[in-house]
Amino acid sequence: MKHLLPVLPYSASALEPHIDARAMSVHHDMHHAAYVKALNEALASAPESLHDKSPEWLLLNLAKVPENIRTTVRNNAGGHLNHSLFWRSMSPDGGGAPSGALADAIDQAFGSFEALKTRFDKAGAEHFRSGWVWLVKAPHGHATLQVLTTPGHDTPLTQGYVPLLLNDVWDHAYYLKQENRRPDYLSGGGRSSIGTKLPVAWSAPGTPRKCQWSSPDEKHVPIPPPITARSKLRFP
Ligand SMILES: [Fe+2]
Repeated sequence: MKHLLPVLPYSASALEPHIDARAMSVHHDMHHAAYVKALNEALASAPESLHDKSPEWLLLNLAKVPENIRTTVRNNAGGHLNHSLFWRSMSPDGGGAPSGALADAIDQAFGSFEALKTRFDKAGAEHFRSGWVWLVKAPHGHATLQVLTTPGHDTPLTQGYVPLLLNDVWDHAYYLKQENRRPDYLSGGGRSSIGTKLPVAWSAPGTPRKCQWSSPDEKHVPIPPPITARSKLRFP
C-alpha cells in the first residue's frame, strides 16, 4: 500500500484571508506531498509486512522499522500524519467556541476558553524552531486537557496523549504570507479586521480561521506504550 496525499477537504482559497490560496497550495501540494513521497521511498526497501501499515502504526512501532530507514520514517510518517490532521482540523464552515463536554473540560483545565486561546498561541509563538503546538487529552493520571509542543514532526500520540487540536509552527506554514512573523500567523495576522468579518472570535488551529473540534470523548484506537521515538514534549 502506498501512502497517499489526502485531498484537501476544501478549496485552496477556502480559508482566505487567514491562509491564502498560494500558501495553502505550497503547503499541501509541495510540503505535505514531499513527506508522503519520502515515506513511500523509504518503505520501498522495508520488509513487506510494513507496507500496509498506517502512519500511526509506524510511529508507535518504530522499533520494528529497519534502523537504516527509522529516522526517515519517523520524520516523514510524522509529517504525513500531522498535516493530515491539520487539514481536517480546519473548515470554512466551522468555527466558534466548543460546547458540551469539551467546553466543560477546557474550563476545568484552563479556567476559560479565552485562557486556552492565549496559552495555545503563546506556546506556539515561543516554540523554538520548527514543530507543532497541540491541545491534547492527557493519559490517565494527568490533568485531562493540556497544551504542549513537539519538535519536528513528532506527535504526542507516541506518549499516550490524544490530539484534539494542533497548529503547524514550521516556517513553511506562514513564511509566504507572514514572513518571519509567527505570532501574526498564530493570531490571524489582523485579529481585529478578521474578527469583524467572521462569526468566530477564535478558531483553530490557533488563529481566527474556522475550526472543527475533536471531542475528548471521541473513541480512539487504544494506544500501546511507546517503544521508541521519545519526543521532547514541552509544557509551557
Ligand atoms: Fe506544515
